[in-house]
Amino acid sequence: MNSKKYIFESMDEYSKNPRYPFHMPGHKGGRLCSFSDVYKFDITEIDDYDNLHNPEGMIKNSQERALKLFGSDYTFFMVNGSSGGNMAAILSVCGDGDKIIVARNSHKSVFSGIVLSGADVRYVYPEVFNDTGIVGQVTVESIEKALCENPDAKAVFITSPTYEGFTADIEKIADLVHKNNAILIVDEAHGAHFNFNDYFPGSAIKLGADIVIQSVHKTLPSVTQTALMHIKGDRVNIENIKSALAMVQSSSPSYIFMSSIDRCCDFIEKEGKYYFDKYVDTLKEYREKFKTLKNIKIIGEDFVNICGVKSYDKGKLVFIVNDTSTEYINKILIEKYNIQLEAVGRNHIIAMTSVADTKEGFERLFNALCDIDKHIKYEKSSVLNYCNVDIFQTVSLRKAYFLEKEKVSLYESVGKICGDFLIPYPPGIPVLCPGEVITSKALECICEFIDKGINVLGVDESFGVKVLCQKEK
Ligand SMILES: Cc1ncc(COP(=O)(O)O)c(C=O)c1O
Repeated sequence: MNSKKYIFESMDEYSKNPRYPFHMPGHKGGRLCSFSDVYKFDITEIDDYDNLHNPEGMIKNSQERALKLFGSDYTFFMVNGSSGGNMAAILSVCGDGDKIIVARNSHKSVFSGIVLSGADVRYVYPEVFNDTGIVGQVTVESIEKALCENPDAKAVFITSPTYEGFTADIEKIADLVHKNNAILIVDEAHGAHFNFNDYFPGSAIKLGADIVIQSVHKTLPSVTQTALMHIKGDRVNIENIKSALAMVQSSSPSYIFMSSIDRCCDFIEKEGKYYFDKYVDTLKEYREKFKTLKNIKIIGEDFVNICGVKSYDKGKLVFIVNDTSTEYINKILIEKYNIQLEAVGRNHIIAMTSVADTKEGFERLFNALCDIDKHIKYEKSSVLNYCNVDIFQTVSLRKAYFLEKEKVSLYESVGKICGDFLIPYPPGIPVLCPGEVITSKALECICEFIDKGINVLGVDESFGVKVLCQKEK
C-alpha cells in the first residue's frame, strides 16, 4: 500500500487502469446503469424534490415502483447500506429487554442493533462444513429449539444468503416464527438479485419473511451504500420502521444514491429480463468450465441439503483451494491478469459476479485460473471444527459496550469478561462477544485459530484483548 498518497490522487490513478472487478459494487465500473453529471444530481431537499424521510412525491413513486419489482408490500430506499437497515429493523421491533433470537454468524451491524436497542439476545449457531470450515446455515431445528426455549422472543434474525451464498430454509423458518407470533427479519444483503431470474434462489420476500434487507450495491448495478428494506405482510409496524430508519440514516440522504437505486430499478423493469437471461447463460457456461479445473474446486450442488443449506447463489463463484495457495492466487490474479477478487479466505476465494459483468471478464478469470491450476496442488487442508464454546453472558451486550475496558494478554484473560468481539475471520462467527466470560475452552478455541494462521479480530498484534475492568464487574 502506498501510504504517501491521498484518496483523490489514488482513485484518479486507479480509475485510469482499474482491475477487472470480481467484487462489489455490482455496477462493475458503471456498466449498464450509470449516469453522468453526478454533481448536478447532488441536491438536497429543495422545493418539489421530495424528502426520503417523509416521501410524498418522486421518492414515493420510485419506492412504489421498487416494491412491485421486488414483490413486497412496502419498500424503503436506504442510503446507509444494509448496515443501517439491519440496525433499523432491530430497533423497530425490539426495545430494552425484549428477546431476539439471532444467528451468531450475523454481520456486525446486527450486533450494533442489539447494543442500540438493548434487546436481550439468544444466539443460534449455523452449521459449519467440517471438511472445509465454510459456514453453512442455521437449521430449521435449531430455530425451533430456540423458539421453544424462548417463547417470548419478539423476533428472529438470520442471514440468508451468507457471504458465500448459502440460503436457509426460509419458508419453514418463517412458519415456525409466525406460529410463535414473532417477526422474521432476514439479512438478504447479498441477494438483491434473487428476484430477477429463477436460476437464483427465491428471495425471502416471497418465502414468508416479514422484514428483508438487501444491499442493492452488492449484486445489482447501483453505487456503494445503496440498499433496500422490504416489508411483507401486516406483522410489522410501519411507523416504527420509518422512525428507526430516520434514526440510523443521514438527515441529508444523497440524491445520487437514491437516483442510482432508481436508475437500477428502471433498468430492471425495462431491460432486466434480457440482461439477466444473458448473465445466467454466461454463468451456466462458465460454471461448467470452472468444474474442469483440477486443483481449484468450485462450490456447487454438493453443498446443498446439508448443514442447513437449502440452496445457493450461483452468481457467487466460490473456489476451494489448498490453504497455502490463496495468497499466491490473489497475487497472480492481480499482477498477471489485472483481476481483483472479492475475498480471499484461508482455503477459499470468492469472485462476485453480477448482471453487469462481461463475458470477456469471465473468460479472463477462467484463463487465469486455468493457468494457476497447473501450478498449485489441491490437498485437503486440516480444518478446525468450529467449536461451539458454551456462552456465559454475565453482562448484557449493551451494558458491556458502555463499560470501561482494559487490555490484557489473551493468555491471561481466562475468567475475565470479554470487552470486544473476538471473531476468527474466516469463518466470521464470534467466539465471544462483549459481556461474555472468557473460559479456558474459549481461549483454547481462539488459540487454535491463531495457530492455524487465521486472523482473529479483536486480538491485537501483541495478543492483547479488551476485557471489562475488574471493578466494573
Ligand atoms: C451479510 C451482510 N450483511 C450486511 C452487510 C452490510 O451491508 P452494507 O455494506 O450494505 O452496509 C454486509 C456487508 O458486507 C454483509 O456481508
